[in-house]
Amino acid sequence: MRHASPTLPTILDTFERQFARTGFLPPQAPVLTLPGPYQVVPDLIPTLASAYGDTGVRPLIREAVASWPRDLHAGLAALDADQRDALLSATTILMHLYRWNAVPVDPARFHEHPEFPRALAHLFRTLSDARDLPPCGSLYTLKYLNWRSPDVTPGEPYDADTLHAGNVRIAHPWQEGVAGEQLDLWIQTFVLAEARGLGVLRAGMAALRAAHKQDCAALEAALEDLHHAIRTVARGINVYTRFHVIRTDLWRVHTQPTFGWGLTEQGRLLEGASGLQLGATQFADLALGVPFSGPLGGALLASRAYLPPEQRAFLTAWDGHRRDVRAGVTGWGGSRARDLFDACVQDMERWRVSHRERGSAYLRGDGRAHVMASTGTQFSAGTPHDQDFRHLMNSRIHDTRRQRIADDLL
Ligand code: HEM
Repeated sequence: MRHASPTLPTILDTFERQFARTGFLPPQAPVLTLPGPYQVVPDLIPTLASAYGDTGVRPLIREAVASWPRDLHAGLAALDADQRDALLSATTILMHLYRWNAVPVDPARFHEHPEFPRALAHLFRTLSDARDLPPCGSLYTLKYLNWRSPDVTPGEPYDADTLHAGNVRIAHPWQEGVAGEQLDLWIQTFVLAEARGLGVLRAGMAALRAAHKQDCAALEAALEDLHHAIRTVARGINVYTRFHVIRTDLWRVHTQPTFGWGLTEQGRLLEGASGLQLGATQFADLALGVPFSGPLGGALLASRAYLPPEQRAFLTAWDGHRRDVRAGVTGWGGSRARDLFDACVQDMERWRVSHRERGSAYLRGDGRAHVMASTGTQFSAGTPHDQDFRHLMNSRIHDTRRQRIADDLL
């Protein structure tokens, strides 16, 4: 062991206090039943399923909202934080369903700003503002707050390690039949990716601690864990994004469109839920010091606005340490630490290459022209844009590769 640095970064305490059990998933399992009048909101979602795949949900939502109690607003203060999050998630889903009306999406939807039912829109904005989130859906509100598991108790703390393929399902589905099964799998894909991502956070934090203590053995152990953890996340995602699981022919027409938003708010196009908002990969980049340069790096930084404020603050605090692990490895780490660090960088590169290939295949779909509502940087109607996506991913792959230490030594 070298000289221990006198103080350890406070982010290590923040991690232990707030993120050690569930990472970027909610700290309590999503609440499924709301008190008093509020249950009407989540209850509405599954009743829309057949219309969402057919003539459209707008008349049904308007009619239901017109019968909601007038004082839904007044009682919000009586809800606890997890209940408010559950209500935010349900209102967000209803807003997205109203925004798109039906799948396949009508191209006209891209060029209108719908008149949302006032009571719904008001409730949604109040809850989004109170949570300091943009007024549209996100990975957190549409997916991470919308699952159930027989192995966790709604509203209670849980460990993300308990979640695995087979015990996580969508909580409030809005599609039925095969489209409903696909939607369920899509939610599972992200919830499980973030659950496995906790391994990335644990290893990244251990690496930071070791770097500050200048403890070479601990640094090697942490980098070995990080190497396994990144591969576990990537493998988990790739198990779902196989064409016979998440189906390429259905994904871009039936599954993905609901998650985009694409309305402009005070001059800014709001994205909706996107892979950019995956906490685990944002965190892995920071652990390895991958710069947020280039078009995708910039988009990744901008997408943090869609994360809840406590997660945003955690990433911002981590930003300040993004050179620490690599500096330890190159400064006083031995050749094993260097090899392990490079293995982690290579894991991120490989995940990005596989994501580029699989993502392109999903964006191409069945090769026919369909209306496509994607999210993030790719928001557009009707145009297959797998080439744009390839360019974007290539820029990020390049930035990742540049972190390799072996290349510095050549
Ligand atoms: C299978 C179909 C998929 C397609 C077509 C797709 C497409 C895209 C696109 C176009 C981007 C660029 C940013 C944007 O415009 O949103 C992106 C970024 C990203 N996606 Fe996906 N994605 C897919 C699946 C997934 C899954 C299942 C995950 C993880 C659970 C994921 C995680 C990410 C991440 C982390 C990024 C940020 C870029 C990076 O860090 O390398 N994607 N994806």
